[in-house]
Amino acid sequence: MTAIRPLVAGNWKMNGLSSSLAELEALKAHVKGKPVLPADLMVCPPATLLSRAAQVLAGSGIALGAQDCHPLPSGAHTGDISAEMLADAGATAVIVGHSERRTDHGEIDALVNAKARAAHRAGLTAIICVGETEKERRDRTTLGVVARQLKGSVPQGSQAANTVIAYEPVWAIGTGLTPTPVDVAEVHGFIRGELAGLLGQGEADRLRILYGGSVKPGNASELLSVENVNGALVGGASLKADDLYAILKAYCGRTA
Ligand code: PGA
Repeated sequence: MTAIRPLVAGNWKMNGLSSSLAELEALKAHVKGKPVLPADLMVCPPATLLSRAAQVLAGSGIALGAQDCHPLPSGAHTGDISAEMLADAGATAVIVGHSERRTDHGEIDALVNAKARAAHRAGLTAIICVGETEKERRDRTTLGVVARQLKGSVPQGSQAANTVIAYEPVWAIGTGLTPTPVDVAEVHGFIRGELAGLLGQGEADRLRILYGGSVKPGNASELLSVENVNGALVGGASLKADDLYAILKAYCGRTA
């Protein structure tokens, strides 16, 4: 299997005002003069900041992502934002199927699949999230849940070039709790196997599978050195440029 370039992506969720652009400036200052980072770096601010974030990050090598999209390119859908609009605002990726969308908005796999297809249609990378609840883990149904989510949410024909999977155990998001490295290894290995069945071995071997859920500078090295973990989707800790950059550095165990 060829080496996969990791991705560290920050998900700001419903946080961020104009003043938060200063964090992007700080992140930019961290990577300035470092032509080769140990991993790709991305920030996903709220939609209201995308255009200005694109301006701040232009030429920095830091990618810009969004947090959700509507399946259709345009139309009478008040309050929604299409993948084409996100691309137009400067995003190159969009998170779909985050557990908070699945919970807050009742999003089911079929809708997540349609959103991922919309992302592909607009030329965006779809970051497709899956993960079990606390009860599902207790009931030992984690692998079945993740298999069902992957089968339903990952569009046929998805490629490593336009798709990233994020494994985010719901009970680990924003709680400070994390699975053990052994548990992470089990699920990530399982996901790669499932992707081989869905997309073919070639794509599965190249696809990035991120871990998400309470990743912090202090636990990043341990979590991100687990086999089949190709980076992180970071929520809370991504709001501070110093923390997100510390996670990026920890990834490869070097002081970039
Ligand atoms: P957290 O969020 O890092 O705050 O746990 C992760 C996520 O929801 O993507």
